[in-house]
Amino acid sequence: MTIVVTGATGHLGHLIVEALLRDGVTPSEIVAGGRNLTKLDDLAAQGVRVASIDYNDPQTLADALAGADTLMLVSASEPGKRVAQHKTAIDAAVAAGVTRIVYTSAPYASTSALILAPEHKGTEELLAASGIPSTILRNGWYTENYTAAAHQAAASGTLVSSVGSGVVSSASRKDYADAAAVVLTTEGHEGKTYELSGDVAWTQDDLAAAISKATGKTVVYKPVTAEEHATILKSAGLDDGTIGFVTALEANTRDGLIGYTTGDLSRLIGRPTTPLAEGLAADL
Ligand SMILES: NC(=O)c1ccc[n+]([C@@H]2O[C@H](COP(=O)([O-])OP(=O)(O)OC[C@H]3O[C@@H](n4cnc5c(N)ncnc54)[C@H](OP(=O)(O)O)[C@@H]3O)[C@@H](O)[C@H]2O)c1
Repeated sequence: MTIVVTGATGHLGHLIVEALLRDGVTPSEIVAGGRNLTKLDDLAAQGVRVASIDYNDPQTLADALAGADTLMLVSASEPGKRVAQHKTAIDAAVAAGVTRIVYTSAPYASTSALILAPEHKGTEELLAASGIPSTILRNGWYTENYTAAAHQAAASGTLVSSVGSGVVSSASRKDYADAAAVVLTTEGHEGKTYELSGDVAWTQDDLAAAISKATGKTVVYKPVTAEEHATILKSAGLDDGTIGFVTALEANTRDGLIGYTTGDLSRLIGRPTTPLAEGLAADL
């Protein structure tokens, strides 16, 4: 068995490789891929094979996938380019004779109005058309997404957001990585789609309380309108594209699109997901 993990130079992919090792996969049966190979030194030292993988360079994928049976495709990170990049990886998997692909998608990607959903929907369609048995891990929000906001809020005492009373069912990256390792190392996941999320959907008041607890600074949630938030972000020097993205995501959050709790994640990993306060404190 050989499992090729893309994005292993990033946070999630690296954690997936660590989880595979912990779950007893032989190091030499794992190929950890990415562009910045120095980030893989610790894995190489444990016997994991490393490979240069650039989604914009099909030959790197052909080389990395030669002889592999499983592709763990961690979604790429450049919005607007991802469907083409994922297609390059899926085409290379077909050519290499890969027999299973596991892909990290987004909540309810095929039907959701979430701003990030279309590229994941497009990729899920490519996977279905590839003929390779696949498992879709529709990863919900990472708790770590709130680390930067937590630092700002701790410094100012105020957590500013336009999500209103919209809830977020985040989990720690490690929870999602552990789920990927379960799917990669146990039977019966082909053709399945998992809606992964934290067990608890929390509010911005909960987030403010978790930041207060983790930092020892009193933080209070200050709800603002989308227009007010855009003005605040503009005065902080953000460009219009970033402001549009942030406010669209906050509108999605207000609409509950990242607040689903299905229990799929805790069922897969066999334990509760990491609570917000714990995950945030660990990352801070
Ligand atoms: N669910 C969520 O809350 C959430 C939040 C953020 C992102 N995401 C998605 O989940 C993925 C993993 O999250 P993460 O936190 O691990 O992100 P990350 O730390 O930024 O890692 C992204 C990985 O993608 C690789 N990558 C990017 N462009 C590539 C290319 N052209 N060719 C090959 N590799 C490329 C990077 O490789 P190099 O570093 O070697 O270039 C890196 O290993 C992200 O890429 C994104 O699609 C989900």
